[in-house]
Amino acid sequence: MMDSVTILDKTFVKFIPSAEIDAAIQKVADQINKDYKDDDPILLVTLNGAIVFAVDLLKKLTIKCKISCVKLSSYSGTSSTNVVKNLIGLTDDLHGKRVLVLEDIVDTGRTYQHLVNMLTEAGVKDLRIATMTYKPEAYKLGLPIHYCAFTIPNKFVVGRGLDYDGYGRNLPDIYQLKIDD
Ligand code: IMP
Ligand code: MG
Repeated sequence: MMDSVTILDKTFVKFIPSAEIDAAIQKVADQINKDYKDDDPILLVTLNGAIVFAVDLLKKLTIKCKISCVKLSSYSGTSSTNVVKNLIGLTDDLHGKRVLVLEDIVDTGRTYQHLVNMLTEAGVKDLRIATMTYKPEAYKLGLPIHYCAFTIPNKFVVGRGLDYDGYGRNLPDIYQLKIDD
């Protein structure tokens, strides 16, 4: 059966097919193209997970924009840790800029909180977030999620940039951890 994959010790079942993801990302892109029509934002890609979403989204954006990257880490295996580490911090001057954070997933919101603190300190003019997936049941931050392709249940997912211990990012579809695993 092609509808499940095994990564390391876990089995995942197909959850969102590739074509559906493309269509949802197009909708997000349409909205961003409208909202940032006359602006020149910096799209801040959070490595490694958001790479695939960022590439898919960027190809659909018609606005004038630049990209910049940060690398943060808060996950170990299939659960979030309390500490967000700055593996690569801000490398561009974002003072006075409109910044749109690109995320593969917003889970507890701890990573986003860390980014908000970092970007506020950097003196950004305006800050929003666009995420491919969002788990509202796990989210503990009061801040709005401005653009979201999919709201998903609080279960571990892989594919489209999302990983299990580094693997599975290259899967074109999104898979969900099998219930009995
Ligand atoms: P947060 O800080 O709890 O919001 O977690 C955000 C980060 O945790 C994401 O950027 C992912 O790297 C990772 N993460 C959270 N949930 C999942 C999941 O279901 N699959 C894969 N990675 C996840
Ligand atoms: Mg990530």
